[in-house]
Amino acid sequence: MSQFAIFRHYPDLIYLDSAATCHVPDVVLEAVQHYYQQLHGNVHRGSHRLGRLATQALEQAREQLAIFMGAPAAQVTLQASTTAALNQLADHLPVTWQAGDEIVLSWAEHHANILPWQRLAQRYQLQLKYIEIDPVTGALGAWEHLLSERTKVVSVSLASNVTGAVFAVQPLLQRAQQLGAWTIVDAAQAAAHVPLRVTELGCDALVLSAHKAYGMTGCAPLYLSERLLAQLPPMVVGGGIVEQVSPLSASFIDGVQRFEAGSPNTVAIVAAATAVQWLTTQDFTQLQQLRSLLVHELQQRPWLTVLPSGENATPTVAFYSTEFHAQDIAIWLDQHDIAVRAGHHCAQLFLQHWQLPAVVRVSLGIYNTEAHIQRLLQTLDAGWALFSSD
Ligand SMILES: Cc1ncc(COP(=O)(O)O)c(C=O)c1O
Repeated sequence: MSQFAIFRHYPDLIYLDSAATCHVPDVVLEAVQHYYQQLHGNVHRGSHRLGRLATQALEQAREQLAIFMGAPAAQVTLQASTTAALNQLADHLPVTWQAGDEIVLSWAEHHANILPWQRLAQRYQLQLKYIEIDPVTGALGAWEHLLSERTKVVSVSLASNVTGAVFAVQPLLQRAQQLGAWTIVDAAQAAAHVPLRVTELGCDALVLSAHKAYGMTGCAPLYLSERLLAQLPPMVVGGGIVEQVSPLSASFIDGVQRFEAGSPNTVAIVAAATAVQWLTTQDFTQLQQLRSLLVHELQQRPWLTVLPSGENATPTVAFYSTEFHAQDIAIWLDQHDIAVRAGHHCAQLFLQHWQLPAVVRVSLGIYNTEAHIQRLLQTLDAGWALFSSD
């Protein structure tokens, strides 16, 4: 707690919405200040000292983010958000689309990993296929029957932003690659909790949002496999990536920098690198214990239903009550200075797939304590005692 300025400012706040965005530790705020006080210039173009310092800071940050992802720095490009990266991949993947080609997703995807593919499917008359999520275990269901020679893309999340389930995607991705499909992983929810080994996963692209891993918004490292890197054209064009321009065409620089046209969000990139370095020094065992305690306690309350997520889930727990609307529960908690999220969590298909009403999501961060869980449970119980019809 003492490492987070925001909780010194709001000492009574119980923040249980880290899956939406994490708060940043002081070391990240210090890195931001240091960058603007001592390093700031525009990158890759300055022939002066600050331009060089900013470029150095950005390239060092890329290396640290690459280590965090288990990837070579030469295969990590720095994008603005998971949403932006998935949109750009959908628009620019090197595929000659034919009507009837197939894209495989899961029912548990965030809208960021559905809508870009839907738009593409409408444009080229493609088929979208969805992998079931087991309603008892919360695990990824059978996918073998969904893959075929027509599968051109498999794009799935590593962890659910609703239940916290961590999906065993490796066999799926490897099989899809064997069939010649491009494989993409949305690691937005996994990044802060699951050690990433991108080169072992069987993915051609993997992206995460730094703000969900104790960094700032505006930075999303995107890993690209060698084969995708070799074939993917620049997704955004403009300054900073050009080798030669003629009135009608341009040639581009090699390497991951060709995906970074325009002025990057260097401060967010520096902050992201600081955040992931800090993250790897933290002990997350307590967070897993808190999650188990929370799940256990919620399950003791017959008026609540906890969504299944399996044992090795991220510390995100979702539940609903048939008596109270999720939004009303969230408002009640907010009145008691407890921040949770309620609704469909940008995963409407997932809730429809399991025929669920809106759910309340409690997502823990490194700053949460057992006392926070107890306050949450007491406040839920007090609401039940006051408003239930029993
Ligand atoms: C699984 C998942 N994918 C993608 C996103 C979108 O991330 P961003 O808003 O940082 O682009 C989120 C955000 O909640 C998410 O949970």
